[in-house]
Amino acid sequence: MAASFHIVAISNRKGGTGKTAVSVNLAAELAAQGHRVLLIDLDSQGHCALGLGLKAAPGAANVHRLFVDPGATLSEALRPTSLENLWLAPADPLFDHGSGERNDQRLRHAIAEEGLSERFDLIVIDTPPSLDALLVNALMAATRVLIPYVPHYLSYEGVRQLVRVLFKIMTKDNRQLKILGFLPTMSTEHIRQHRAITGEVAHQFGASRVLPGIRNDIRLAEAFAAGQPIRLYAPKSRGAEDFARLAAQLAEQFSSP
Ligand SMILES: Nc1ncnc2c1ncn2[C@@H]1O[C@H](COP(=O)(O)OP(=O)(O)O)[C@@H](O)[C@H]1O
Ligand SMILES: [Mg+2]
Repeated sequence: MAASFHIVAISNRKGGTGKTAVSVNLAAELAAQGHRVLLIDLDSQGHCALGLGLKAAPGAANVHRLFVDPGATLSEALRPTSLENLWLAPADPLFDHGSGERNDQRLRHAIAEEGLSERFDLIVIDTPPSLDALLVNALMAATRVLIPYVPHYLSYEGVRQLVRVLFKIMTKDNRQLKILGFLPTMSTEHIRQHRAITGEVAHQFGASRVLPGIRNDIRLAEAFAAGQPIRLYAPKSRGAEDFARLAAQLAEQFSSP
Protein backbone atom coordinates (compact mmCIF):
# COMPACT_ATOMS: atom_id res chain seq x y z
CA MET A 1 0.00 0.00 0.00
CA ALA A 2 3.00 2.25 0.41
CA ALA A 3 2.57 3.26 -3.22
CA SER A 4 -0.56 5.27 -2.51
CA PHE A 5 -1.96 6.98 0.51
CA HIS A 6 -5.73 6.79 0.89
CA ILE A 7 -8.39 8.31 3.09
CA VAL A 8 -11.45 6.07 3.21
CA ALA A 9 -14.76 7.34 4.57
CA ILE A 10 -17.17 4.63 5.75
CA SER A 11 -20.63 6.08 5.14
CA ASN A 12 -24.32 5.46 4.80
CA ARG A 13 -27.17 7.89 5.53
CA LYS A 14 -28.79 5.22 7.66
CA GLY A 15 -27.70 4.15 11.14
CA GLY A 16 -27.15 0.52 12.08
CA THR A 17 -25.68 -0.59 8.76
CA GLY A 18 -22.39 -1.74 10.27
CA LYS A 19 -20.34 1.42 9.65
CA THR A 20 -18.55 1.28 12.98
CA ALA A 21 -18.04 -2.50 12.88
CA VAL A 22 -16.53 -2.12 9.41
CA SER A 23 -14.37 0.88 10.41
CA VAL A 24 -12.90 -0.80 13.48
CA ASN A 25 -12.39 -4.26 11.98
CA LEU A 26 -11.07 -3.11 8.64
CA ALA A 27 -8.64 -0.71 10.34
CA ALA A 28 -7.47 -3.47 12.70
CA GLU A 29 -7.07 -5.97 9.88
CA LEU A 30 -5.03 -3.62 7.70
CA ALA A 31 -2.89 -2.57 10.68
CA ALA A 32 -2.17 -6.25 11.36
CA GLN A 33 -1.00 -6.57 7.75
CA GLY A 34 1.62 -3.93 8.53
CA HIS A 35 -0.04 -0.77 7.23
CA ARG A 36 0.14 2.26 9.50
CA VAL A 37 -3.53 3.08 10.03
CA LEU A 38 -5.27 6.04 11.62
CA LEU A 39 -8.94 5.56 12.51
CA ILE A 40 -10.82 8.84 12.87
CA ASP A 41 -14.13 8.64 14.76
CA LEU A 42 -16.33 11.45 13.46
CA ASP A 43 -19.48 9.98 14.98
CA SER A 44 -19.88 11.65 18.37
CA GLN A 45 -21.42 8.50 19.79
CA GLY A 46 -17.76 7.54 20.28
CA HIS A 47 -18.25 3.87 19.43
CA CYS A 48 -14.84 3.33 17.81
CA ALA A 49 -13.07 3.76 21.15
CA LEU A 50 -15.44 1.24 22.74
CA GLY A 51 -14.87 -1.26 19.95
CA LEU A 52 -11.13 -1.01 20.54
CA GLY A 53 -11.45 -1.31 24.31
CA LEU A 54 -10.28 2.26 24.96
CA LYS A 55 -11.80 4.10 27.87
CA ALA A 56 -13.24 7.51 27.18
CA ALA A 57 -11.09 10.12 28.89
CA PRO A 58 -13.34 13.07 29.68
CA GLY A 59 -11.79 16.31 28.54
CA ALA A 60 -9.09 14.54 26.50
CA ALA A 61 -8.19 15.82 23.05
CA ASN A 62 -10.50 14.54 20.32
CA VAL A 63 -11.21 15.06 16.65
CA HIS A 64 -14.37 17.09 17.22
CA ARG A 65 -12.39 19.90 18.78
CA LEU A 66 -11.29 20.79 15.27
CA PHE A 67 -14.82 22.01 14.58
CA VAL A 68 -15.14 24.32 17.57
CA ASP A 69 -11.58 25.51 18.24
CA PRO A 70 -9.63 27.16 15.43
CA GLY A 71 -6.39 26.44 17.31
CA ALA A 72 -7.00 22.69 17.73
CA THR A 73 -4.98 20.15 15.74
CA LEU A 74 -5.75 16.60 14.69
CA SER A 75 -2.28 15.42 15.74
CA GLU A 76 -2.88 16.26 19.39
CA ALA A 77 -5.95 13.98 19.38
CA LEU A 78 -4.11 10.84 18.21
CA ARG A 79 -4.04 7.95 20.66
CA PRO A 80 -2.13 4.70 20.23
CA THR A 81 -4.28 1.59 20.63
CA SER A 82 -3.35 -1.81 22.02
CA LEU A 83 -2.79 -2.90 18.40
CA GLU A 84 0.49 -2.25 16.68
CA ASN A 85 0.24 0.19 13.74
CA LEU A 86 -3.23 1.39 14.73
CA TRP A 87 -3.97 4.86 16.10
CA LEU A 88 -7.33 6.38 16.98
CA ALA A 89 -8.52 9.97 16.83
CA PRO A 90 -11.43 9.56 19.27
CA ALA A 91 -14.75 11.35 19.17
CA ASP A 92 -16.09 13.86 21.66
CA PRO A 93 -19.24 12.26 23.12
CA LEU A 94 -20.33 15.73 24.28
CA PHE A 95 -19.92 17.36 20.88
CA ASP A 96 -22.57 20.00 20.23
CA HIS A 97 -23.56 19.78 16.57
CA GLY A 98 -24.83 23.32 16.50
CA SER A 99 -21.72 25.02 17.75
CA GLY A 100 -18.81 26.57 15.89
CA GLU A 101 -18.59 28.13 12.49
CA ARG A 102 -19.22 25.70 9.66
CA ASN A 103 -16.13 24.87 7.62
CA ASP A 104 -16.50 21.87 5.31
CA GLN A 105 -12.74 21.76 4.63
CA ARG A 106 -11.53 21.71 8.22
CA LEU A 107 -10.63 18.00 8.36
CA ARG A 108 -9.13 17.95 4.88
CA HIS A 109 -6.87 20.88 5.71
CA ALA A 110 -5.83 19.43 9.07
CA ILE A 111 -4.74 16.15 7.42
CA ALA A 112 -2.79 18.00 4.73
CA GLU A 113 -1.24 20.70 6.88
CA GLU A 114 -0.19 18.32 9.65
CA GLY A 115 1.54 15.98 7.21
CA LEU A 116 -0.49 12.92 8.22
CA SER A 117 0.03 11.30 4.82
CA GLU A 118 3.68 10.90 5.89
CA ARG A 119 2.85 9.30 9.23
CA PHE A 120 0.19 6.92 7.96
CA ASP A 121 -0.43 4.66 4.99
CA LEU A 122 -4.18 4.80 5.39
CA ILE A 123 -6.79 6.87 7.20
CA VAL A 124 -10.21 5.33 7.87
CA ILE A 125 -13.02 7.70 8.85
CA ASP A 126 -16.13 6.41 10.62
CA THR A 127 -18.98 8.83 9.92
CA PRO A 128 -22.30 9.79 11.48
CA PRO A 129 -25.40 9.10 9.39
CA SER A 130 -26.75 12.65 9.68
CA LEU A 131 -26.13 14.93 6.74
CA ASP A 132 -24.35 17.65 8.65
CA ALA A 133 -20.95 19.33 8.63
CA LEU A 134 -19.29 16.19 9.99
CA LEU A 135 -20.32 13.87 7.16
CA VAL A 136 -19.51 16.56 4.60
CA ASN A 137 -16.08 17.09 6.20
CA ALA A 138 -15.39 13.35 5.88
CA LEU A 139 -16.42 13.28 2.23
CA MET A 140 -14.41 16.41 1.45
CA ALA A 141 -11.28 14.90 3.02
CA ALA A 142 -11.66 11.38 1.61
CA THR A 143 -10.15 9.89 -1.52
CA ARG A 144 -12.47 6.87 -1.36
CA VAL A 145 -15.85 6.09 0.15
CA LEU A 146 -16.96 2.63 1.26
CA ILE A 147 -20.70 2.16 1.71
CA PRO A 148 -21.82 -0.63 4.04
CA TYR A 149 -25.49 -1.48 3.63
CA VAL A 150 -27.83 -4.07 5.03
CA PRO A 151 -29.46 -5.63 2.00
CA HIS A 152 -33.08 -4.80 2.73
CA TYR A 153 -35.31 -2.11 1.28
CA LEU A 154 -35.07 0.48 4.06
CA SER A 155 -31.31 0.42 4.07
CA TYR A 156 -31.21 0.86 0.31
CA GLU A 157 -32.93 4.22 0.71
CA GLY A 158 -29.97 5.32 2.87
CA VAL A 159 -27.61 4.29 0.05
CA ARG A 160 -29.60 6.29 -2.49
CA GLN A 161 -29.59 9.39 -0.29
CA LEU A 162 -25.85 9.11 0.27
CA VAL A 163 -25.12 8.62 -3.43
CA ARG A 164 -27.02 11.81 -4.25
CA VAL A 165 -24.78 13.77 -1.85
CA LEU A 166 -21.71 11.94 -3.13
CA PHE A 167 -22.25 12.79 -6.76
CA LYS A 168 -22.50 16.47 -5.91
CA ILE A 169 -19.25 16.39 -3.98
CA MET A 170 -17.41 14.16 -6.47
CA THR A 171 -18.21 16.38 -9.44
CA LYS A 172 -17.53 19.68 -7.74
CA ASP A 173 -15.58 20.17 -4.54
CA ASN A 174 -13.64 16.91 -4.21
CA ARG A 175 -12.75 15.42 -7.57
CA GLN A 176 -10.28 12.93 -6.11
CA LEU A 177 -13.15 11.13 -4.35
CA LYS A 178 -14.18 7.79 -5.82
CA ILE A 179 -16.55 5.06 -4.70
CA LEU A 180 -14.43 2.21 -3.36
CA GLY A 181 -17.40 -0.08 -3.18
CA PHE A 182 -20.76 -1.09 -1.76
CA LEU A 183 -20.44 -3.61 1.04
CA PRO A 184 -23.38 -5.81 2.01
CA THR A 185 -23.29 -6.32 5.79
CA MET A 186 -25.18 -8.62 8.17
CA SER A 187 -26.24 -10.55 5.12
CA THR A 188 -27.80 -13.96 5.10
CA GLU A 189 -27.52 -15.35 1.63
CA HIS A 190 -30.68 -17.40 1.71
CA ILE A 191 -33.05 -14.46 2.10
CA ARG A 192 -34.46 -13.55 -1.28
CA GLN A 193 -34.79 -9.85 -0.46
CA HIS A 194 -31.05 -9.65 0.18
CA ARG A 195 -30.26 -10.98 -3.25
CA ALA A 196 -32.77 -8.64 -4.85
CA ILE A 197 -31.28 -5.53 -3.20
CA THR A 198 -27.70 -6.48 -3.94
CA GLY A 199 -28.76 -7.17 -7.53
CA GLU A 200 -30.27 -3.69 -7.65
CA VAL A 201 -27.06 -2.09 -6.34
CA ALA A 202 -25.04 -4.03 -8.93
CA HIS A 203 -27.44 -2.92 -11.66
CA GLN A 204 -27.34 0.76 -10.60
CA PHE A 205 -23.63 1.12 -9.87
CA GLY A 206 -21.91 -1.81 -11.60
CA ALA A 207 -21.35 -5.36 -10.39
CA SER A 208 -17.63 -4.70 -9.87
CA ARG A 209 -18.52 -2.11 -7.24
CA VAL A 210 -20.26 -4.65 -5.00
CA LEU A 211 -17.66 -6.00 -2.59
CA PRO A 212 -17.66 -9.48 -1.05
CA GLY A 213 -19.94 -8.94 1.94
CA ILE A 214 -19.74 -9.33 5.69
CA ARG A 215 -22.15 -12.04 6.74
CA ASN A 216 -24.36 -11.84 9.75
CA ASP A 217 -22.30 -13.10 12.70
CA ILE A 218 -23.22 -12.62 16.34
CA ARG A 219 -19.51 -12.89 17.16
CA LEU A 220 -19.04 -9.42 15.62
CA ALA A 221 -21.48 -7.89 18.10
CA GLU A 222 -19.84 -9.83 20.94
CA ALA A 223 -16.35 -8.69 19.88
CA PHE A 224 -17.53 -5.10 19.93
CA ALA A 225 -18.97 -5.48 23.42
CA ALA A 226 -15.68 -7.04 24.54
CA GLY A 227 -13.71 -4.10 23.11
CA GLN A 228 -11.74 -6.18 20.64
CA PRO A 229 -11.54 -6.44 16.87
CA ILE A 230 -12.92 -9.73 15.57
CA ARG A 231 -9.49 -10.95 14.41
CA LEU A 232 -8.44 -11.16 18.07
CA TYR A 233 -11.76 -11.98 19.70
CA ALA A 234 -12.78 -14.86 17.45
CA PRO A 235 -10.10 -15.46 14.82
CA LYS A 236 -11.87 -18.54 13.42
CA SER A 237 -15.29 -16.93 13.10
CA ARG A 238 -17.15 -16.12 9.89
CA GLY A 239 -16.76 -12.43 10.69
CA ALA A 240 -12.98 -12.70 11.01
CA GLU A 241 -12.85 -14.62 7.74
CA ASP A 242 -14.98 -12.03 5.93
CA PHE A 243 -12.95 -9.07 7.20
CA ALA A 244 -9.64 -10.74 6.29
CA ARG A 245 -10.93 -11.31 2.77
CA LEU A 246 -12.24 -7.75 2.46
CA ALA A 247 -8.97 -6.24 3.75
CA ALA A 248 -6.91 -8.32 1.33
CA GLN A 249 -9.04 -7.20 -1.61
CA LEU A 250 -8.95 -3.53 -0.61
CA ALA A 251 -5.18 -3.58 0.04
CA GLU A 252 -4.79 -4.82 -3.51
CA GLN A 253 -7.08 -2.10 -4.87
CA PHE A 254 -5.15 0.58 -2.95
CA SER A 255 -1.79 -0.53 -4.25
CA SER A 256 -2.83 -0.54 -7.90
CA PRO A 257 -2.78 2.89 -9.53
N1 LIG B 1 -21.98 -8.51 10.23
C1 LIG B 1 -22.61 -8.35 11.42
N2 LIG B 1 -23.26 -9.38 11.98
C2 LIG B 1 -23.92 -9.22 13.16
N3 LIG B 1 -23.97 -8.09 13.85
C3 LIG B 1 -23.33 -7.01 13.34
C4 LIG B 1 -22.61 -7.08 12.11
N4 LIG B 1 -22.09 -5.85 11.85
C5 LIG B 1 -22.46 -5.07 12.88
N5 LIG B 1 -23.20 -5.75 13.78
C6 LIG B 1 -23.84 -5.22 15.01
O1 LIG B 1 -24.97 -4.45 14.59
C7 LIG B 1 -25.08 -3.25 15.36
C8 LIG B 1 -24.97 -2.02 14.46
O2 LIG B 1 -23.68 -2.00 13.87
P1 LIG B 1 -22.80 -0.67 13.84
O3 LIG B 1 -21.47 -1.03 13.30
O4 LIG B 1 -22.80 0.01 15.17
O5 LIG B 1 -23.63 0.20 12.78
P2 LIG B 1 -23.55 1.78 12.46
O6 LIG B 1 -22.18 2.25 12.88
O7 LIG B 1 -23.77 1.87 10.99
O8 LIG B 1 -24.65 2.45 13.23
C9 LIG B 1 -23.99 -3.34 16.41
O9 LIG B 1 -24.53 -3.92 17.57
C10 LIG B 1 -22.97 -4.27 15.79
O10 LIG B 1 -22.18 -4.93 16.76
MG1 LIG C 1 -21.60 3.82 14.12
